[in-house]
Amino acid sequence: MSGKTPAVLISEDDIRRRVDELAAAISRDYAGAAEVLLVGVLRGSFIFLADLARRLTVPCRVDFIAVSSYGDSTTGGEVRLILDVRTSVQGRHVIVVEDIVDTGSTLTYLLRTFGARQPASLKTCVLTRKPEGREVDVQVDYLGFDIPDAWVVGYGLDIADRYRTLPFIGVVDPAAEVAGISG
Ligand code: PRP
Repeated sequence: MSGKTPAVLISEDDIRRRVDELAAAISRDYAGAAEVLLVGVLRGSFIFLADLARRLTVPCRVDFIAVSSYGDSTTGGEVRLILDVRTSVQGRHVIVVEDIVDTGSTLTYLLRTFGARQPASLKTCVLTRKPEGREVDVQVDYLGFDIPDAWVVGYGLDIADRYRTLPFIGVVDPAAEVAGISG
């Protein structure tokens, strides 16, 4: 690790306030629903999902999926499902919870996958979105923050699996991080 603390982009307080707002909006929109199914995309969404789920006032159940991307982020690689949900999606109000949308390939794939399983409804809740990098115009129903085209870490986000547990979202220089690993 480089040892340098990432520069703060979104503070812990700002994250807390925004997650409160997202939870309030979801709770309002699903007030009449018996239950919502939150599907977290491993691994980056686990902290966001944990905070969001605990602030909902509508009953919810939680499940997870994992995907792999092949190819680089500039071309939007092929996405493959490597761990599926255990819950049957059919007839449920599904919200896919993501930490970040970059090219949009992952979320597009997940919407197609879950859309084919006859959910009662299907929406997305995304903590951060990189508008400049987006290749596919993907549906984001609940958005935390639009962010600049930088490498962000913390609150679940990582670089080479580091920094996920930082309480804030920060920016790192990928070149310095790589140098830190090899040095
Ligand atoms: C990140 C993120 C999304 C995806 C978004 O996952 O969690 O799933 O990339 O990128 P896209 O919009 O370009 O498809 P990552 O592969 O870094 O795995 P992780 O969640 O385990 O960190």
